[in-house]
Amino acid sequence: MLTSLKVRHFRCFEQFEWELESGSNFIIGPNAHGKTSLLEAACILLRLQSPRVASLARVVQHERRGFVVDGYFAQRHLQFYYSTQRKKLALDSVEQTNSKDWLQLGRVVWFGNEDIELARGGAEKRRKFLDFIGTQRDAGYRTSLRAFEHALRSRNHLLKQPSQRWREIAAFDGPLLQHGDYVRTVRHGLLAELQSDADAAHFAISGQRESLRLEYVPGDQGDFAAALAGAKVEDARLRQTTIGPHRDEVRFFLNQLPADDASEGQQRTLVLALKLGATRLLERHFGTPPLLLLDDIFGELDPARRNALLAALPPTAQKVITTTHLDWMPEAGSGRVLKLG
Ligand SMILES: Nc1ncnc2c1ncn2[C@@H]1O[C@H](COP(=O)(O)OP(=O)(O)O)[C@@H](O)[C@H]1O
Ligand SMILES: [Mg+2]
Repeated sequence: MLTSLKVRHFRCFEQFEWELESGSNFIIGPNAHGKTSLLEAACILLRLQSPRVASLARVVQHERRGFVVDGYFAQRHLQFYYSTQRKKLALDSVEQTNSKDWLQLGRVVWFGNEDIELARGGAEKRRKFLDFIGTQRDAGYRTSLRAFEHALRSRNHLLKQPSQRWREIAAFDGPLLQHGDYVRTVRHGLLAELQSDADAAHFAISGQRESLRLEYVPGDQGDFAAALAGAKVEDARLRQTTIGPHRDEVRFFLNQLPADDASEGQQRTLVLALKLGATRLLERHFGTPPLLLLDDIFGELDPARRNALLAALPPTAQKVITTTHLDWMPEAGSGRVLKLG
């Protein structure tokens, strides 16, 4: 469990320090007072990445060089300094040369209103979701994903040159295929594993016998090597790699109908089910539930789904919940309250 969190030069915070307890922790305050930022800090502390932005540079307080996130998790002292020039990790005051051990410490599932984009937005959102869970579920995944992305960028860079030199381009096919196969295997396995948990969570929240089915559509068409070789002319013409896991798609079906056409309410239920499914998956795999970060979602949900969600969250999980007010809480609260503003 996360017992304390300290930030410095982090978004709107010059400096802020905060103690947490097991069970539920509430951050209450008006808009733009840094509620989401504190939740983001908890995520960055454990996973070294933000659920809001791709680059941590955005998190550094304006006019500052770098931020610090410092906290105690499972009695370990985690200190992370980030600037665009330099990143520094210290675990129990021992500087880390890489993030491997660090990333084994704790897991996180983030719930936010923008999750609706998982159902409505482009495929990239769904790949990002799978990758966020995948890197937590599987220690080697992050390395493979990075290596794949690196090979892809290099290959695309060469394809964009005025004269395409195929001997050089083909040199990246090896790493692209090797790491791409691994990425596909992990994503595919994850989705298969998520299926029953997400469906069960969906049933619990919707209270209806509406089935949720997840479908993985590999961007490498199943046989990456063959598809890549076959796409040479197309790649040359479009000046980019057209085959691979960067084109993976995930489709959702409610009662066998594509969820693209579902109502907003159905889509909200669906994405909650995905996040709850991921929570159960990580809990099953590691024996302890992930830290749950819930960003301002309860005010937006109707009472039935709100109560169903509260009931479906693992009781032993530590939770941090941001909200502008506590009126929605079913019973006057057990949990620590932090008031901002
Ligand atoms: N890098 C940054 N430097 C300084 N302020 C920032 C930075 N990023 C965001 N902010 C500001 O931080 C404030 C708090 O944002 P946020 O955590 O989203 O608040 P809340 O969730 O309480 O509505 C906002 O006013 C926003 O403009
Ligand atoms: Mg917010």
